[in-house]
Amino acid sequence: MPELSVVIVATDNEQRAVLQVLVDGTSVARTVYTCASFPVAASDPVTRRVHAAKPDVTLVDIPADNPPLALRAIELLHQEMPDAAIFAIGTLNQPQVIVNAMRAGAREFIERPINTPDLLDAFVRLQAAQRRGRQEGTRGKVFSVINAKGGNGATTVAVNLALALQSAYGQTALVDLALLGHAALHMNLKPVFNVADATRNLHRMDASLLESFMTRHSSGLQLLAGTNTPAAVDPSTADFVKLFDMLVTHYRYVVVDVSSRFDAASRLVASLSETVLLVACSDVASLWSAARVQQYLGETGSRDRVRLVLNRFRKVAGFSEADAETAVGAKLLWRIPNQYFAISGAIDRGTPVMDQRNSEIARCFAGLAQELTQNDPDVKRAAWKLFKSV
Ligand SMILES: Nc1ncnc2c1ncn2[C@@H]1O[C@H](COP(=O)(O)OP(=O)(O)OP(=O)(O)O)[C@@H](O)[C@H]1O
Ligand SMILES: [Mg+2]
Repeated sequence: MPELSVVIVATDNEQRAVLQVLVDGTSVARTVYTCASFPVAASDPVTRRVHAAKPDVTLVDIPADNPPLALRAIELLHQEMPDAAIFAIGTLNQPQVIVNAMRAGAREFIERPINTPDLLDAFVRLQAAQRRGRQEGTRGKVFSVINAKGGNGATTVAVNLALALQSAYGQTALVDLALLGHAALHMNLKPVFNVADATRNLHRMDASLLESFMTRHSSGLQLLAGTNTPAAVDPSTADFVKLFDMLVTHYRYVVVDVSSRFDAASRLVASLSETVLLVACSDVASLWSAARVQQYLGETGSRDRVRLVLNRFRKVAGFSEADAETAVGAKLLWRIPNQYFAISGAIDRGTPVMDQRNSEIARCFAGLAQELTQNDPDVKRAAWKLFKSV
């Protein structure tokens, strides 16, 4: 793996020395220059020296007692060297400083005191993003998961499908668009930012800002968490397109948990999706609702993309899968067995069933991921292209 060249900007002598030891200790990066003052202008000799060192990464230590100078330096370095990544280092108890550092152009915000694993993770993420950037022209696929009826299992399906895709192919994101997001709870994650922060900042969104809003699961899956207050996130169409444009540029697979949201946003996401997974159960009320949801999505042209996923599946005498398809008006894509104890226990613990690799239920979700991706190389992304031209 090629080494990353790193410049360290820290006014505190001890912190500068510690950072150098930590960087050189990662073995994927090497310090090429350290500086003890913040650059304040493009013509500043400090700026020129940082520039001349041609860093892949500049670490900027934000002193707790005077963030503005460091933030200005981040902005300046980002303007002067747009291709070099900036990692800001500071304390997590100053949320506004984190947001401002990201706005100024920092790609990562690392909590002080930092350690080698945190730094190594950030370097590895950067190298992975650089590699992805080189695979030009590839756009990811969106799979959205919507309920026929509240509680039918959309979040369970979305979380485990995303984990299955991540495990098989990597580069997967899960976006929680539910009116009250539960995906983070299912994975025992504590997001700092959520989809509301991402949509509020769309006017200045770029790849690094998007990444900073994601919460990483230990599998590598990146979650754009849902809102934790029932207030609806209701971005404009243009905002949504921009967000999904960024997502499909950045990730190979984007799974969206729409859960029980039936509004313009869910219709829009359906129209951006390769496949809409309509999660229903085999009871009359659920199938009746599924037919209504199918009709609702069909009004904005998504009818052919909708596939039925029968959750808590149990054979019912006198009722066939063909009957379910006819009742809903959508082809059956997958059946998920009824395993209340395994699934509800997994949600309560925050360890999704996909983590229990060899269980029947994990194999079921792995099979669903395979089914959705089997024709991948030659899939035409007509729907996406159509949307892009609007
Ligand atoms: N295959 C299954 N077998 C048994 N129980 C299940 C199954 N899938 C989901 N459940 C149970 O259904 C409940 C709701 O699941 P989940 O949170 O995924 O639903 P949801 O449809 O996203 O809900 P909401 O409408 O609140 O968004 C959970 O308590 C879970 O244990
Ligand atoms: Mg849900």
